[in-house]
Amino acid sequence: MIPTIKTFEEYQQQYSLSVQNPEAFWEEKASYFQWRKKWDKTLEWNFQEPNIKWFRGGKLNITENCLDRHLAERGDETALIWEPNDPEEHFRKFTYRELYNKVCQFANVLKNNGAKKGDRICIYMPMVPELAIAVLACARIGAIHSVVFGGFSAQSIADRIQDAQCSLVITSDGGFRGNKEVQLKTVIDDALVQCPSVKKVIVLTRSRTPIAMIKGRDVWWEDEIKKVETLGLNECKAEEMDAEDMLFILYTSGSTGKPKGVVHTCGGYMVYSAYTFQTTFQYNPGEVHFCTADIGWITGHSYIVYGPLLSGATSLMFEGVPTWPNSGRMWDIVQKYKVNILYTAPTAIRSLMSFGLEPIKGKDLNSLTKLGSVGEPINEEAWHWYDDNIGQKRCPITDTWWQTETGGIMIAPIAGVTPTKPGYATLPLPGIQPVLVDENGKEIVGNGVSGNLCIKFPWPGMLRTTYGDHERCRVNYFATYPGLYFTGDGCLRDQDGYYRITGRVDDVLNVSGHRIGTAEVENAINMYSDVVESAVVGYPHDVKGQGIYAFVICTPHLNDDELTRKDILMTVSRIIGPIAKPDKIQFVKGLPKTRSGKIMRRILRKIAEGDIANLGDTSTLLDPAVVDEIKAGALISV
Ligand code: WT7
Repeated sequence: MIPTIKTFEEYQQQYSLSVQNPEAFWEEKASYFQWRKKWDKTLEWNFQEPNIKWFRGGKLNITENCLDRHLAERGDETALIWEPNDPEEHFRKFTYRELYNKVCQFANVLKNNGAKKGDRICIYMPMVPELAIAVLACARIGAIHSVVFGGFSAQSIADRIQDAQCSLVITSDGGFRGNKEVQLKTVIDDALVQCPSVKKVIVLTRSRTPIAMIKGRDVWWEDEIKKVETLGLNECKAEEMDAEDMLFILYTSGSTGKPKGVVHTCGGYMVYSAYTFQTTFQYNPGEVHFCTADIGWITGHSYIVYGPLLSGATSLMFEGVPTWPNSGRMWDIVQKYKVNILYTAPTAIRSLMSFGLEPIKGKDLNSLTKLGSVGEPINEEAWHWYDDNIGQKRCPITDTWWQTETGGIMIAPIAGVTPTKPGYATLPLPGIQPVLVDENGKEIVGNGVSGNLCIKFPWPGMLRTTYGDHERCRVNYFATYPGLYFTGDGCLRDQDGYYRITGRVDDVLNVSGHRIGTAEVENAINMYSDVVESAVVGYPHDVKGQGIYAFVICTPHLNDDELTRKDILMTVSRIIGPIAKPDKIQFVKGLPKTRSGKIMRRILRKIAEGDIANLGDTSTLLDPAVVDEIKAGALISV
């Protein structure tokens, strides 16, 4: 365990040390892990190419740190608790030893099916323990996992599989979420029509829905486990990895085109996910940690699987949704497992808030000691509701700002140590050097200022590249402000030096904590046969944080708006997934464009927000009359 920070003075000291001598700071953090061979160089970097290497020459396997290392000391302690979607179904628990055995077995299954070090493996699974086992088994044999969230469509999966040239897919027949059953294998079958690189599909039994099993390609998880058991292959020696070998790829949306594959590496990600877990949450051995994210997102990677297991913690994973079978489900889970740390998203808090206090009545929440928030700005009302009713004013709230690209938490109060302020992610963790810059990339110094949030020094958990396209990584993150990593977020630093993230400054939306590119949604809408052109913007949404507002030009002959709307929603669902479906679709005859043909999104954003009186300067528009037509038809309910 990395020593925790006990006082605010200690935080300040650690922070200064981390800026004065970052290498010594991170060497010390890295020394708490098991390395097969120590690194020869702590850090090599430039943000121009970019080239970032942490712990160069170090050899390790992250699963030895997640599992093997704990066997002697806490082999019989619980590593993973699984709460099923249906509260009537039996929960499952795995000790560190049991999880170790399962991971070794499945690692052998992967090997038996031809997987080897460096191969890319796509995982498309519901939130069942086998998902965590599959992730760790990949890491064990040195295969690079690419987990795709279970809500993405066949087309999205196909794009990701092709981009990474995956050779194997791990999925399940189906899955359960609330009162819905999801058909995962059928979606995979549709995706694989376009993916010749995939040679094998391993299918876990979960929902027992009828599925196609293709001879020579598809095998059952359970049969394959039996085979390795018969062969006595219960141990699997971990593959030796270089610190800078890829650990995983995770696709995330950007402001343009297709999602990009963010690459994280073995050594740096290991140190960073564990360090941030232990530091931010002030993790104490024996505590039960409940992160409500899906493993399909970075939050699940870092704070359900890797961070907690690296720390020898008990991690709780939940298959279902917070409002099913009723809106008290989350609190039932907290009570049932005596959860100590609850880490969830503002959208979940706002959704639960809307049910009032009734669902909390009679639920024992006294086990809770620390609360976390992640994924989007948390509004003050939600912050206070969380503090008053869930934390009962005794639990520090840590509002954690970070990104898929950062690998772990970057700016957040250290639970119980950093004085909090509702709506503020407060201060950077030791090791993180944020700066605010103006439009020209000039650093804005001092307090009581706002600007674009950048990071000026590398940290071990940062992305190394975007898979298969390093130039894209450079252009996206390192070219806007030379010498800095640009986050894409706007931010203010108040009089006390506290940071408040104000939201994306690029064309990326954050809908219920899910990141979606406007261009991505537009591309999907434009696939619909009768759409001529579209423009998508975000608008404030009470529960989701942001909603998706689409302005759409259709071919003139259409006369059934309602049906067209439904068709467009279906098209977006098919192309991206249900999470990208617009909340509002307004049919328009034209879009506000400049003389050079650029859509003026600023105007559309104002209209979507309902701020019609303040459209600003529209004189540079090619046809200002377009704006009047759009204003007249605006779908404003707020
Ligand atoms: C974007 C990253 C961090 C893991 C989950 C999302 C927004 C994230 C906060 C926060 C305000 C936040 C930012 C960021 N965001 N956390 N505490 N306060 N905004 O990861 O999908 O990569 O999205 O989410 O805009 O850039 P992601």
